[in-house]
This record gives sequence, structure tokens and C-alpha cells, in this order.
Amino acid sequence: MRIAVSGTPGTGKTSSTEILEKKHLIIHLNEYVKENELTEGYDEERQSYLVDLGSVNTKLPDEGIIESHVSHLLDVDRVIVLRCHPSELKNRLSGRDEEEIRENLEAEAIDKILIESLERTNDVHEIDTTNRSKKEVAELIDEISTGAVQKEPGQVDWSGWLLGE
Ligand SMILES: Nc1ncnc2c1ncn2[C@@H]1O[C@H](COP(=O)(O)OP(=O)(O)O)[C@@H](O)[C@H]1O
Ligand SMILES: [Mg+2]
Repeated sequence: MRIAVSGTPGTGKTSSTEILEKKHLIIHLNEYVKENELTEGYDEERQSYLVDLGSVNTKLPDEGIIESHVSHLLDVDRVIVLRCHPSELKNRLSGRDEEEIRENLEAEAIDKILIESLERTNDVHEIDTTNRSKKEVAELIDEISTGAVQKEPGQVDWSGWLLGE
């Protein structure tokens, strides 16, 4: 089974999946596309490589956890979306470019990745990482991956933050 761990940048995808590296095959898509030359040019503004999703789909193993903010756009069997309250996300993104931070807080507040995921598959789970340690998040990812636990989406609501409450 291919499982995507997605979420707005800063929600903790890389840190929490690293904890599971002994137990699961973890593919950090950023590194994977560079190693396998599956990039499709460079986005100067975002200072990141564009991913050739078609070629990635062909190359990826059929079993494993793929972590990236675009992993939910791949051919995957299950999606786990990491969420984080925008106020806390701001802390986690500190040091990054102002405009990039603003864009990410907004994307998180409007459930962008969750909605994109639900448009593609029904097997979507959501973890609110705001008040969870990386280890707790890793444990939940593990349990959802094996099917032991289900975390149906719809538990988080950042609309209050959007409204300035
Ligand atoms: N559960 C958590 N609690 C507190 N801080 C976290 C948590 N998960 C990640 N962080 C911190 O937030 C920042 C972004 O984490 P990272 O794993 O790089 O996110 P992503 O891969 O989703 O962009 C890092 O500084 C990391 O240490
Ligand atoms: Mg990352």
C-alpha cells in the first residue's frame, strides 16, 4: 500500500516520519526526486524544485510512506493530512520568507490540502499536530498506516483564526 503523508509546509511531515524509518519505508519526496532526477525545472520564486508527478508515480515502490506537501497528488491508496493551528504553524515556520509564511498560514486555514485530498480519494485521515509531540504524531501515522486507527477528517476548524477571533 502506498500511503501519502501530506500537509502544509511546517506541519511536521519530515520530523514525524523520520521517527518511523526503522519500521516503515519512508520516502522523503524532496530528496527522492533529486536523487532520481525526477524534477521538472526550478521555481525561482519558491526556491524549490518542481516535481514530475507522472514519472514519480511510475518509479515509486508500491509499498511505503511518501512524505511531501504534494504527496496527496500522487497515485496513493491512503492519505494522512497533518494539520496545525495557524498560530502554532507560524512558530514552526519562523525564519522563512514572510510572503511564504503568509501563503502557508492561509493555505492551512482554508483546509487547502485536505480538500485536494478529499477530491481524489475517500481514504483520507487527518491528524491535528498542534498539541502533539513529534513522537505522538509518528505513533498515529503508524497506527493509521496499518489500519489499526482511523482519524476521519473534519475535526479541525481554523475558521476562527481566519475571522481574527
Ligand atoms: N509535533 C511538533 N511539535 C512541535 N514542533 C514540531 C512538531 N513537528 C514539527 N515541528 C517543528 O516544526 C518545524 C517544521 O517541521 P518539519 O518536519 O520540517 O515540517 P514539514 O516537513 O511538514 O515542512 C521544525 O522546526 C520542527 O522541529
Ligand atoms: Mg519537510
